[in-house]
Amino acid sequence: MMNLIMMPNATGAHLGGWRHPDAWSDTVMNLGHIVEATQIAERGLFDAVFLADGNAVREMDKPALFAANFPSARPAGFEPVTVLSAVAMATRHIGLVATSTTSYDEPYAVARRFASLDHISAGRAGWNVVTSQYAGDAQNFGRDENYARDERYERAEEFVEVVKGLWDSWDEDAFPQDKATGRYLDPAKVHRLNHVGKHFSVKGPLNIARPPQGHPMVFMAGQSDRGRELAAKHADAMFAAGDSMQSCQKAYADIKSRMAKYGRAPETLRFLPSIVTYCGETEAEAERLFEELQALISPSLGVHYLSKLVDKDLSGHDLDAPLPDLPEKVASGTSLRTYLIEGARRDNLTIRQCYQRALSSMGAPVVKGTPAQIADTLELWFRGQACDGFMISNPVMPRSLKNFVEMVVPELQKRGLFRKAYEGATTRERMGLPTPGNPRLAAAAE
Ligand SMILES: Cc1cc2nc3c(=O)[nH]c(=O)nc-3n(C[C@H](O)[C@H](O)[C@H](O)COP(=O)(O)O)c2cc1C
Repeated sequence: MMNLIMMPNATGAHLGGWRHPDAWSDTVMNLGHIVEATQIAERGLFDAVFLADGNAVREMDKPALFAANFPSARPAGFEPVTVLSAVAMATRHIGLVATSTTSYDEPYAVARRFASLDHISAGRAGWNVVTSQYAGDAQNFGRDENYARDERYERAEEFVEVVKGLWDSWDEDAFPQDKATGRYLDPAKVHRLNHVGKHFSVKGPLNIARPPQGHPMVFMAGQSDRGRELAAKHADAMFAAGDSMQSCQKAYADIKSRMAKYGRAPETLRFLPSIVTYCGETEAEAERLFEELQALISPSLGVHYLSKLVDKDLSGHDLDAPLPDLPEKVASGTSLRTYLIEGARRDNLTIRQCYQRALSSMGAPVVKGTPAQIADTLELWFRGQACDGFMISNPVMPRSLKNFVEMVVPELQKRGLFRKAYEGATTRERMGLPTPGNPRLAAAAE
């Protein structure tokens, strides 16, 4: 069965989305919208919602871009575990996945937050492990520079192992709470971690009973070789950033083939590319929404954002002239930069056309059309081993999410690709993921 995840961010996934007449207009620190978006996704039987996160307001070092105003600079957003704890109280079945970094946090604190969320939500919590790429995050945590990638991943690896070890602190039946005998806990069923490693020293135990899912789900989104290796070892689900079915098929085969050496079966990691959908009753309606949104990206935002993406100030240039020649490689080069420059050369794009292409989805595939056309694409990818499901990005909130839930979900259900009701007790069970057993029971059984 296909898995579906979505981001309940009220400003929408398109950079112009928050300006559209159908978009919510009061999105700053609005808990009600996050709750409502999650409830709509739950009506559509989505597996989970996912909140991305970082620890800094972005782009303040690029004043022209910052002034061009766009919500993805994250000037105002809730701390995700806190807000999902509130969302848990207004929903019953949908999974709740929040991002926390391993570079600027402590494993004990992270283990505690997600174990709490798992109890609060009765087995629906997930941790999206990130190592933080952004230097601005470092500057809020006592460092001028971010750690280099290898160092970040070395720390992340130890971090994740400590967190998982802490989740195993208590056996399932450690708290008899027997009023008659006065036995509240069973001291034989608590285990100290006693971890001493290069980055962390953590005695344990965690002061939280074993989480309902055994371990909250672990998501990852690192796309580098180290990121994929960490995911192959530890992740239950992986977000992907492929720009085409072919690139996702390659990444899918790669990540699944890395798992055997960690004793893991390929189906125990769900591979979920991001995809942006524009759904209409007709193709023309879907196209119209797309064009309306494109028109809402101001030239100033377009040029300054594109300048950032290609690492060259384009602000003095004629917008209707071709994208100037740019060096193939730069230190800060990303795959999105390469994709943009190659595409601009191939298709003879002007600067305006180039930013319109880039900013419409940030490199994620865009699928436009009727419910049947969108379902055709999702089915093709799913059956073609490009993915196990999708992270659905909604350009305008709540319109795009409602369209997906009301039009595309029934089409997927009709084809037998998606559930017709929630089953299972926890999100792990609903997503087809194994529940980690108690390591001591497993050892005793051996
Ligand atoms: C769908 C998706 C969601 C992501 N969410 C976050 C996030 O919330 N916070 C963050 O710092 N990075 C996030 N990232 C970035 C990744 O964690 C990772 O740093 C990036 O893909 C580069 O890979 P690397 O770290 O292995 O170099 C996300 C990436 C993707 C594809």
